[in-house]
Formats: sequence, C-alpha cells, structure tokens
Amino acid sequence: MGLKLFRCCLMVMVALCIFSTSAFGGEVEVLHWWTSGGEAKSVAVLKELLEKEGHIWKDFAVAGGGGDAAMTVLKSRAVAGNPPTAAQVKGPQIQLWGDEGLLANLDDVARAEKWDELLPKVVADIMKYEGSYVAVPVNVHRINWMWANPEVFRKAGAQLPTTWEQFEVAAKKIKKAGFIPVAWGGQPWQEATVFEIIVAAVGGPDFYRRALVDADAKALSSPTMVKVLEIMKMIKQYTDKGAPGRDWNLATAMVIQGKAAMQFMGDWAKGEFTAAGKSPGADYIAMPAPGTSNQFLFNVDSFIMFKQKDPGAKEAQKAMARLILQPEFQKVFNVNKGSIPVRLGMPRAPFDDPALRAMSEFIASATGGGLVPSMAHEMAVFPAIRGAILDVVTNFYNSDMSAKKAAAELAREVEAAM
Ligand code: BGC
Repeated sequence: MGLKLFRCCLMVMVALCIFSTSAFGGEVEVLHWWTSGGEAKSVAVLKELLEKEGHIWKDFAVAGGGGDAAMTVLKSRAVAGNPPTAAQVKGPQIQLWGDEGLLANLDDVARAEKWDELLPKVVADIMKYEGSYVAVPVNVHRINWMWANPEVFRKAGAQLPTTWEQFEVAAKKIKKAGFIPVAWGGQPWQEATVFEIIVAAVGGPDFYRRALVDADAKALSSPTMVKVLEIMKMIKQYTDKGAPGRDWNLATAMVIQGKAAMQFMGDWAKGEFTAAGKSPGADYIAMPAPGTSNQFLFNVDSFIMFKQKDPGAKEAQKAMARLILQPEFQKVFNVNKGSIPVRLGMPRAPFDDPALRAMSEFIASATGGGLVPSMAHEMAVFPAIRGAILDVVTNFYNSDMSAKKAAAELAREVEAAM
C-alpha cells in the first residue's frame, strides 16, 4: 500500500516536472552589452523577474559601450545558425533582422498586454516588422545631456555653459585651474555621440534630420556641417591625453571623482552616478548639452526574439517580452539605468529630477518638432551609413584633417554606402 502510494506520488511529480519545463519553465539566452556598474544593476532586475516565474536566464553579455562589439558577435552567431533566444537590437536594424525571417512574432503578447495603447506610436512603429511586433522596447534614453561636477566649476570660477561660446570660456578657466574640462571617451561611437549633439545644437532639428536621418549629401557637406566639425576640434583642446580608447563609464567616473568638469553623453551616464550614490542637483548637474535645450535626441533600447522550436524557450521568451513592459520592471530598471519608461502613464514619483525633465521634454519635443532619432545609437540610419559617418568623424577628430575636407568626405562616403 505504502509502495503504491509512493509510486503514484513519484509519477505525479514526474508528470508535473515535464509539464512545468515544457509549458512554463524555459531558458532564454540573452545577448546584451550592459556591463558597466549601473547597466549590470539594471539588467539584473529582468533576470530576477524571469527567474521568479520559473525560467532560466543565460547571460550572454558582450562588453563594449554602444553595442558595436555585441552586434558583430550576434551576426556571427546568426550566420552559424545559432542565434541566442533574445538580443538587444535597436532601430532600423530590427527591419534587417526581420528581412532575414529569423524573428519570432510577439503579436499575441502585444495584444494581451495592449502594447498599442501603452507605447508612443513613434516607438511602436520601430518595433514592428510588416505590421507585427517582433521587438519589445525597454526604455527611452536621451542623448543630448551634459553631466557636470559643480565643485570643479566652483573651484575654477566657471559658469555652467548653455552655448558653445560659453563652453569655451568655461573650459579655459577650468583648464587653467588644473582640471580636465571634458572627460572624453576616445571610441568612434562616443565621438559620434558628441558629434550628433553638436549637429543638433548648430543646425537645429530640421538640419539634423536632413543630415543624419535622410543622409542628404548637401546637408552633410554644408557650411553648417563645417561649423559642427570645427566645434568638435575646439573641444579636443579641452580633453586629456588619456582619452584615446577610454570607455564611457571611466569618463563618467572622472566627473564623479572631480578630476574632470563635464561629460557629454546619454543618460546611461546617470546610471553610474546613481550606482555611486550621487544625487542630481547636489553632487552633479544634469542639463541639456549646450544649444540643445528644446531638442530630444532619442535612443530606445529593445530586444528582438529569435524563432524557437522548444516550447519552454517559447514560453520564456513570451514571459520576457511581457515582463519588460510591466510597470514593476519599467520602474526599477529605468530608475537604475538613467532612462525613462517607454510605457506611457507611469507614476512620476520614483523618478529623480533629470528623469522628470526628460519625461516632460520628450513629450514637449514631440509636439514642438525637436524629437529626433540618434544616429550614433542606431536609431536613424542603416548600419552601413552609420558606419560611414562614424569612420569619417573619427578620422577627422583624430587627425589634422580640415573641417571642410571632412564635411566633403562625409557626403562622399555616405553616398557610397547608400
Ligand atoms: C545603449 C545604452 C547603453 C549605452 C552604453 C547605448 O547605445 O542604448 O543602453 O547603456 O549604449 O553602452
């Protein structure tokens, strides 16, 4: 009798086990490039939520800010016929992956969770391939920020700049006082980040769109572009010798530690200040980069999901997609990451002043025409065009090429990449 009962229990347990791994628990291998202090803390939230639902998170982090290294690894995995379950991929590239026919359709999750109602249309459109959701957005980052150490400004007797002319005045004083005016990360994507900020500042949103979204040769070789490139070279005088190759988070650390006065970088930099226990307003200042106060260069992180055969993996993928847009994740992730929720109607209370400012200015710039997609962060043009722009900008910045020659080369190289 006892043995029978034991056997029976065992069978029920085995059945439950099979049922739970195939219908509920599954593994997701997630490729991403969130490896800095603030980034790692943020992505850990998603892992935790998934594991709470009985799934397994297999981390596949490829270090390298901006994600260029991660994209190279992803392509080689896909070519080898072994893509991960989910991968951090953004903007127009989602369409290219859709063309390959490798992406899972997320429409049933999207319908059940009402994504069409929860997401700004500008974001929802990017996530769809031929009208179906194939990607899930995580957040909205703003690129055009300046992160400043107020103590360094005070010691140098300098004012926080709102124009590039004021920047030069402040930078001179800061240098004279023995500090590094600008914490510069000498990597192509970081140089492109500052470049596009200056394009917005000098040319305004219409010029930005013509040059960096439409990739119009006239705009790329125009006198406005020459001016942009000259400002970039002017900034170079206020950077240090350690800049080449420096990671973005190490540049942020220079501002946090009071070695440098400012950094121009997207608001993932705020994640580093937060992780270091620093408060906006008191320990650091976050303000729009000079000349860009009415503009919002946006960058939306998202995950694409690759088609799966295993039912457990399919379930885990769907759970991941669902959890990403739920309020709990949107709150904790974005507070840590420095971004703002992509889900509309989230309570404002948990967010700090820079985030609240970003939330208001995202909406204001959308109606005022100042909302533009980031070129450096893969939101504006296809990778071949972005690659051409990054090459020219980096070559120009790191050589004695004239701004005029660089502008002409920009137009030529971009046309060749089209
Ligand atoms: C991503 C951010 C990331 C940053 C630095 C950007 O392209 O959108 O999520 O924190 O790169 O790696």
